[in-house]
Amino acid sequence: MEKIEIIKPDDWHVHFRDNKILEAVVPETTRHFARSIVMPNLIPPIISGKDAVRYKKRIEKAIPKGKNFIPFMTVYLTENTDKNELKESYKNGLVFAVKLYPAGATTNSDSGVKDLRKVMPTLETMAELGIPLLIHGEVTDKEIDIFDREKVFIEQKLDFICKKIPDLKITLEHITTKDATLYVNEGNNNLVASITPHHLALNRNAILVGGIKPHNYCLPILKREPHRIALLDTAVSGNPKFFLGTDTAPHMTEDKESACGCAGVFNATYCLSILAQLFDNKNSLHNLEKFVSRNGANHYNLKTNDEKISLVKLNQELSFKKYLEVGEKKIKIFKPDFPVYWMVSN
Ligand code: NCD
Ligand code: ZN
Repeated sequence: MEKIEIIKPDDWHVHFRDNKILEAVVPETTRHFARSIVMPNLIPPIISGKDAVRYKKRIEKAIPKGKNFIPFMTVYLTENTDKNELKESYKNGLVFAVKLYPAGATTNSDSGVKDLRKVMPTLETMAELGIPLLIHGEVTDKEIDIFDREKVFIEQKLDFICKKIPDLKITLEHITTKDATLYVNEGNNNLVASITPHHLALNRNAILVGGIKPHNYCLPILKREPHRIALLDTAVSGNPKFFLGTDTAPHMTEDKESACGCAGVFNATYCLSILAQLFDNKNSLHNLEKFVSRNGANHYNLKTNDEKISLVKLNQELSFKKYLEVGEKKIKIFKPDFPVYWMVSN
Protein backbone atom coordinates (compact mmCIF):
# COMPACT_ATOMS: atom_id res chain seq x y z
CA MET A 1 0.00 0.00 0.00
CA GLU A 2 1.29 3.46 -0.90
CA LYS A 3 1.97 5.58 2.15
CA ILE A 4 3.34 9.07 2.76
CA GLU A 5 4.41 10.85 5.92
CA ILE A 6 4.33 14.63 6.18
CA ILE A 7 4.78 17.31 8.81
CA LYS A 8 1.44 17.86 10.56
CA PRO A 9 -0.52 20.45 8.55
CA ASP A 10 -2.02 23.79 9.58
CA ASP A 11 -5.21 25.35 8.29
CA TRP A 12 -4.70 29.07 7.85
CA HIS A 13 -8.38 29.98 7.34
CA VAL A 14 -11.23 28.46 9.36
CA HIS A 15 -14.71 29.44 10.52
CA PHE A 16 -15.52 27.81 13.84
CA ARG A 17 -18.72 29.81 14.51
CA ASP A 18 -19.93 29.58 18.12
CA ASN A 19 -21.95 27.53 20.65
CA LYS A 20 -23.30 24.18 19.38
CA ILE A 21 -21.76 24.46 15.90
CA LEU A 22 -18.39 25.34 17.40
CA GLU A 23 -18.49 22.27 19.63
CA ALA A 24 -19.27 20.08 16.61
CA VAL A 25 -16.76 21.49 14.12
CA VAL A 26 -13.65 22.16 16.23
CA PRO A 27 -12.85 18.40 16.57
CA GLU A 28 -13.14 18.01 12.78
CA THR A 29 -10.28 20.48 12.35
CA THR A 30 -8.17 19.42 15.33
CA ARG A 31 -8.18 15.78 14.14
CA HIS A 32 -5.58 16.50 11.45
CA PHE A 33 -4.42 20.10 11.88
CA ALA A 34 -2.07 21.50 14.51
CA ARG A 35 -2.87 25.20 14.18
CA SER A 36 -5.46 27.42 12.54
CA ILE A 37 -6.18 31.05 11.91
CA VAL A 38 -9.75 31.58 13.10
CA MET A 39 -11.96 34.05 11.25
CA PRO A 40 -13.76 36.75 13.26
CA ASN A 41 -17.07 36.98 11.34
CA LEU A 42 -19.39 36.09 14.20
CA ILE A 43 -22.52 38.09 14.94
CA PRO A 44 -21.49 40.45 16.46
CA PRO A 45 -17.96 40.26 14.99
CA ILE A 46 -14.77 39.86 17.01
CA ILE A 47 -13.41 43.40 16.95
CA SER A 48 -11.11 43.72 19.96
CA GLY A 49 -8.39 41.80 21.75
CA LYS A 50 -10.85 41.18 24.60
CA ASP A 51 -13.41 39.64 22.23
CA ALA A 52 -10.66 37.49 20.70
CA VAL A 53 -9.50 36.14 24.07
CA ARG A 54 -13.03 35.23 25.12
CA TYR A 55 -13.65 33.51 21.78
CA LYS A 56 -10.34 31.66 22.02
CA LYS A 57 -11.38 30.26 25.41
CA ARG A 58 -14.63 28.96 23.94
CA ILE A 59 -12.69 27.29 21.12
CA GLU A 60 -10.16 25.77 23.53
CA LYS A 61 -12.98 24.21 25.54
CA ALA A 62 -14.12 22.37 22.40
CA ILE A 63 -10.69 20.84 21.62
CA PRO A 64 -10.80 17.10 22.36
CA LYS A 65 -8.66 16.04 25.33
CA GLY A 66 -5.14 15.05 24.37
CA LYS A 67 -5.10 17.01 21.11
CA ASN A 68 -2.46 19.68 20.66
CA PHE A 69 -4.07 22.50 18.76
CA ILE A 70 -3.46 26.25 18.69
CA PRO A 71 -6.13 28.64 17.44
CA PHE A 72 -4.63 31.91 16.23
CA MET A 73 -7.12 34.69 16.69
CA THR A 74 -8.04 37.51 14.34
CA VAL A 75 -9.97 40.73 14.68
CA TYR A 76 -12.35 42.15 12.18
CA LEU A 77 -11.17 45.40 10.64
CA THR A 78 -13.75 48.19 10.73
CA GLU A 79 -13.53 51.84 9.84
CA ASN A 80 -13.48 52.45 13.62
CA THR A 81 -10.72 50.00 14.56
CA ASP A 82 -8.63 51.57 17.31
CA LYS A 83 -4.97 51.41 16.25
CA ASN A 84 -3.67 51.65 19.80
CA GLU A 85 -5.92 48.92 21.10
CA LEU A 86 -4.85 46.73 18.20
CA LYS A 87 -1.19 47.44 18.89
CA GLU A 88 -1.56 46.45 22.55
CA SER A 89 -3.57 43.32 21.71
CA TYR A 90 -0.96 42.24 19.19
CA LYS A 91 1.95 42.93 21.52
CA ASN A 92 0.23 40.92 24.27
CA GLY A 93 -0.35 38.01 21.93
CA LEU A 94 -4.16 38.25 22.02
CA VAL A 95 -4.44 38.87 18.31
CA PHE A 96 -2.45 37.24 15.51
CA ALA A 97 -3.82 38.95 12.41
CA VAL A 98 -6.50 41.33 11.14
CA LYS A 99 -9.22 40.41 8.64
CA LEU A 100 -10.47 42.84 6.02
CA TYR A 101 -13.95 42.16 4.68
CA PRO A 102 -15.28 44.68 2.19
CA ALA A 103 -18.71 45.57 3.64
CA GLY A 104 -21.34 43.14 2.39
CA ALA A 105 -18.90 40.85 0.54
CA THR A 106 -19.84 37.61 2.31
CA THR A 107 -21.44 35.89 5.31
CA ASN A 108 -21.66 38.31 8.28
CA SER A 109 -19.61 41.09 6.72
CA ASP A 110 -21.97 44.02 7.31
CA SER A 111 -19.52 45.76 9.65
CA GLY A 112 -16.73 45.57 7.07
CA VAL A 113 -14.85 48.30 5.28
CA LYS A 114 -16.70 50.61 2.86
CA ASP A 115 -13.95 53.13 2.20
CA LEU A 116 -10.40 51.74 2.11
CA ARG A 117 -8.89 55.20 2.66
CA LYS A 118 -10.40 55.26 6.14
CA VAL A 119 -8.40 52.20 7.24
CA MET A 120 -5.07 53.12 5.63
CA PRO A 121 -3.63 54.58 8.89
CA THR A 122 -4.43 51.28 10.67
CA LEU A 123 -2.82 49.30 7.84
CA GLU A 124 0.30 51.48 8.12
CA THR A 125 0.53 50.75 11.84
CA MET A 126 0.11 47.05 11.09
CA ALA A 127 2.97 47.17 8.59
CA GLU A 128 5.23 48.82 11.19
CA LEU A 129 4.42 46.13 13.75
CA GLY A 130 4.43 43.19 11.33
CA ILE A 131 0.73 42.34 11.89
CA PRO A 132 -0.55 40.28 8.93
CA LEU A 133 -3.57 41.51 6.99
CA LEU A 134 -5.92 38.81 5.70
CA ILE A 135 -8.13 39.96 2.85
CA HIS A 136 -11.45 38.75 1.49
CA GLY A 137 -10.65 39.99 -2.01
CA GLU A 138 -13.93 40.84 -3.69
CA VAL A 139 -15.51 44.16 -4.58
CA THR A 140 -19.15 44.53 -3.65
CA ASP A 141 -20.38 47.05 -6.24
CA LYS A 142 -23.79 46.01 -7.53
CA GLU A 143 -22.78 46.64 -11.14
CA ILE A 144 -19.81 44.24 -11.04
CA ASP A 145 -20.63 40.69 -12.10
CA ILE A 146 -20.16 38.20 -9.26
CA PHE A 147 -17.68 36.17 -11.34
CA ASP A 148 -15.47 39.26 -11.85
CA ARG A 149 -15.43 40.53 -8.28
CA GLU A 150 -12.05 39.07 -7.32
CA LYS A 151 -10.30 40.29 -10.47
CA VAL A 152 -11.71 43.79 -10.04
CA PHE A 153 -10.74 43.82 -6.35
CA ILE A 154 -7.16 43.03 -7.30
CA GLU A 155 -7.06 45.80 -9.91
CA GLN A 156 -8.86 48.47 -7.90
CA LYS A 157 -8.12 47.76 -4.24
CA LEU A 158 -5.34 45.25 -3.65
CA ASP A 159 -2.94 46.92 -6.06
CA PHE A 160 -3.57 50.24 -4.30
CA ILE A 161 -2.78 48.73 -0.85
CA CYS A 162 0.31 46.88 -2.09
CA LYS A 163 1.72 49.98 -3.77
CA LYS A 164 0.99 52.31 -0.85
CA ILE A 165 2.20 49.94 1.88
CA PRO A 166 4.66 47.44 0.38
CA ASP A 167 5.87 46.42 3.85
CA LEU A 168 2.46 45.12 4.91
CA LYS A 169 2.25 41.32 5.16
CA ILE A 170 -0.85 40.39 3.16
CA THR A 171 -2.64 37.11 2.58
CA LEU A 172 -5.14 37.27 -0.25
CA GLU A 173 -7.53 34.65 1.10
CA HIS A 174 -9.22 31.82 -0.78
CA ILE A 175 -8.13 32.88 -4.26
CA THR A 176 -10.26 31.64 -7.13
CA THR A 177 -8.80 33.04 -10.36
CA LYS A 178 -5.80 32.75 -12.62
CA ASP A 179 -5.54 36.53 -12.27
CA ALA A 180 -4.96 36.14 -8.54
CA THR A 181 -2.26 33.48 -8.99
CA LEU A 182 -0.41 35.78 -11.41
CA TYR A 183 -0.77 38.94 -9.33
CA VAL A 184 0.38 37.26 -6.12
CA ASN A 185 3.24 35.47 -7.82
CA GLU A 186 4.53 38.73 -9.28
CA GLY A 187 4.06 40.73 -6.07
CA ASN A 188 6.75 41.25 -3.45
CA ASN A 189 7.50 38.64 -0.78
CA ASN A 190 5.01 40.14 1.67
CA LEU A 191 2.11 39.19 -0.59
CA VAL A 192 0.92 35.57 -0.45
CA ALA A 193 -2.36 33.71 -0.99
CA SER A 194 -4.36 30.90 0.54
CA ILE A 195 -6.28 28.35 -1.54
CA THR A 196 -9.20 26.12 -0.49
CA PRO A 197 -9.69 22.43 -1.37
CA HIS A 198 -13.05 23.11 -3.01
CA HIS A 199 -11.63 25.72 -5.39
CA LEU A 200 -8.96 23.17 -6.37
CA ALA A 201 -11.56 20.44 -6.86
CA LEU A 202 -14.50 22.13 -8.58
CA ASN A 203 -15.41 24.66 -11.21
CA ARG A 204 -18.65 26.63 -11.46
CA ASN A 205 -20.49 23.82 -13.24
CA ALA A 206 -20.60 22.14 -9.84
CA ILE A 207 -23.07 24.78 -8.69
CA LEU A 208 -25.24 25.05 -11.76
CA VAL A 209 -25.29 21.97 -14.00
CA GLY A 210 -28.15 19.50 -13.56
CA GLY A 211 -29.91 21.63 -10.96
CA ILE A 212 -28.74 24.14 -8.37
CA LYS A 213 -26.25 22.65 -5.89
CA PRO A 214 -26.37 24.98 -2.90
CA HIS A 215 -23.72 23.02 -0.99
CA ASN A 216 -21.13 24.05 -3.59
CA TYR A 217 -22.04 27.71 -3.24
CA CYS A 218 -19.37 29.75 -1.49
CA LEU A 219 -17.71 33.12 -1.79
CA PRO A 220 -15.71 33.96 -3.75
CA ILE A 221 -17.88 31.86 -6.05
CA LEU A 222 -16.38 28.92 -8.01
CA LYS A 223 -15.05 30.05 -11.39
CA ARG A 224 -14.54 28.58 -14.89
CA GLU A 225 -12.34 25.52 -15.45
CA PRO A 226 -9.24 27.44 -16.68
CA HIS A 227 -9.17 29.24 -13.33
CA ARG A 228 -9.41 25.97 -11.40
CA ILE A 229 -6.55 24.58 -13.47
CA ALA A 230 -4.41 27.66 -12.74
CA LEU A 231 -5.08 27.29 -9.00
CA LEU A 232 -4.28 23.59 -9.05
CA ASP A 233 -1.08 24.04 -11.06
CA THR A 234 -0.01 26.72 -8.60
CA ALA A 235 -0.81 24.65 -5.50
CA VAL A 236 0.94 21.49 -6.71
CA SER A 237 4.02 23.46 -7.85
CA GLY A 238 5.09 23.99 -4.23
CA ASN A 239 5.47 27.74 -4.86
CA PRO A 240 6.18 29.19 -1.37
CA LYS A 241 3.69 32.04 -1.83
CA PHE A 242 0.66 29.72 -1.83
CA PHE A 243 -0.68 27.56 0.97
CA LEU A 244 -3.75 25.88 2.38
CA GLY A 245 -6.51 27.89 4.01
CA THR A 246 -9.55 25.63 3.83
CA ASP A 247 -12.16 28.34 4.45
CA THR A 248 -14.16 25.54 6.05
CA ALA A 249 -17.44 27.40 6.62
CA PRO A 250 -20.21 25.37 8.25
CA HIS A 251 -23.85 26.27 7.80
CA MET A 252 -26.84 24.15 8.79
CA THR A 253 -28.30 22.19 5.87
CA GLU A 254 -31.58 24.09 6.13
CA ASP A 255 -29.73 27.42 5.73
CA LYS A 256 -27.91 26.18 2.61
CA GLU A 257 -30.95 24.50 1.01
CA SER A 258 -33.03 27.64 0.99
CA ALA A 259 -34.44 30.26 -1.38
CA CYS A 260 -31.54 32.46 -0.28
CA GLY A 261 -28.90 29.93 0.69
CA CYS A 262 -25.82 30.87 2.72
CA ALA A 263 -22.35 30.92 1.18
CA GLY A 264 -19.82 28.48 2.60
CA VAL A 265 -18.52 24.93 2.18
CA PHE A 266 -17.81 22.72 5.20
CA ASN A 267 -14.72 20.79 4.15
CA ALA A 268 -12.69 20.10 7.32
CA THR A 269 -13.51 16.40 7.63
CA TYR A 270 -11.89 14.99 4.46
CA CYS A 271 -9.75 17.95 3.46
CA LEU A 272 -6.40 16.14 3.54
CA SER A 273 -7.73 13.08 1.72
CA ILE A 274 -9.04 15.31 -1.05
CA LEU A 275 -5.81 17.29 -1.30
CA ALA A 276 -3.65 14.15 -1.37
CA GLN A 277 -5.81 12.83 -4.22
CA LEU A 278 -5.55 16.10 -6.17
CA PHE A 279 -1.75 16.18 -5.74
CA ASP A 280 -1.49 12.47 -6.58
CA ASN A 281 -3.54 12.98 -9.76
CA LYS A 282 -0.94 15.58 -10.79
CA ASN A 283 2.02 13.35 -9.77
CA SER A 284 2.94 15.97 -7.19
CA LEU A 285 2.60 14.27 -3.81
CA HIS A 286 6.19 15.37 -3.08
CA ASN A 287 4.88 18.98 -2.86
CA LEU A 288 1.87 18.29 -0.62
CA GLU A 289 3.87 19.00 2.55
CA LYS A 290 4.90 22.42 1.24
CA PHE A 291 1.29 23.37 0.53
CA VAL A 292 -0.26 22.11 3.76
CA SER A 293 2.54 22.30 6.34
CA ARG A 294 5.44 24.55 5.32
CA ASN A 295 4.58 27.54 3.14
CA GLY A 296 2.00 29.09 5.46
CA ALA A 297 4.11 28.65 8.59
CA ASN A 298 7.05 30.30 6.80
CA HIS A 299 4.94 33.28 5.78
CA TYR A 300 3.71 33.76 9.34
CA ASN A 301 7.25 33.39 10.75
CA LEU A 302 6.33 30.25 12.66
CA LYS A 303 8.26 27.00 12.99
CA THR A 304 6.76 24.04 11.21
CA ASN A 305 5.08 21.51 13.50
CA ASP A 306 7.12 18.78 15.20
CA GLU A 307 4.41 16.13 14.87
CA LYS A 308 3.93 14.15 11.66
CA ILE A 309 0.92 12.54 10.05
CA SER A 310 0.69 9.64 7.60
CA LEU A 311 -1.65 9.12 4.68
CA VAL A 312 -2.29 5.79 2.98
CA LYS A 313 -3.74 5.07 -0.43
CA LEU A 314 -6.54 2.53 -0.13
CA ASN A 315 -7.32 -0.10 -2.76
CA GLN A 316 -10.88 1.11 -2.86
CA GLU A 317 -12.54 4.50 -2.75
CA LEU A 318 -12.71 6.15 0.65
CA SER A 319 -16.30 6.25 1.79
CA PHE A 320 -17.40 9.67 2.99
CA LYS A 321 -19.73 10.38 5.87
CA LYS A 322 -22.43 12.67 4.45
CA TYR A 323 -23.29 14.85 7.41
CA LEU A 324 -21.97 16.16 10.69
CA GLU A 325 -24.76 16.04 13.27
CA VAL A 326 -25.34 19.10 15.41
CA GLY A 327 -28.08 18.20 17.90
CA GLU A 328 -31.23 17.69 15.83
CA LYS A 329 -29.68 19.47 12.85
CA LYS A 330 -26.87 18.66 10.46
CA ILE A 331 -24.15 20.14 8.32
CA LYS A 332 -23.33 18.70 4.88
CA ILE A 333 -19.74 17.48 4.57
CA PHE A 334 -17.94 18.46 1.36
CA LYS A 335 -17.32 15.62 -1.11
CA PRO A 336 -15.78 16.29 -4.52
CA ASP A 337 -17.06 14.71 -7.74
CA PHE A 338 -14.02 12.45 -8.29
CA PRO A 339 -12.93 9.29 -6.47
CA VAL A 340 -10.70 9.73 -3.41
CA TYR A 341 -8.45 6.88 -2.28
CA TRP A 342 -6.27 8.61 0.31
CA MET A 343 -6.93 8.46 4.03
CA VAL A 344 -5.12 9.90 7.04
CA SER A 345 -3.91 6.87 8.96
CA ASN A 346 -2.76 8.49 12.22
C1 NCD B 1 -17.70 32.28 4.74
C2 NCD B 1 -18.64 32.10 5.91
O1 NCD B 1 -19.63 31.38 5.77
O2 NCD B 1 -18.38 32.64 6.99
N1 NCD B 1 -18.38 31.93 3.54
C3 NCD B 1 -17.83 31.58 2.36
O3 NCD B 1 -18.56 31.35 1.39
N2 NCD B 1 -16.53 31.44 2.22
C4 NCD B 1 -17.19 33.67 4.71
C5 NCD B 1 -16.02 33.87 3.79
O4 NCD B 1 -14.91 33.44 4.07
O5 NCD B 1 -16.25 34.49 2.75
ZN1 ZN C 1 -13.73 32.40 5.05
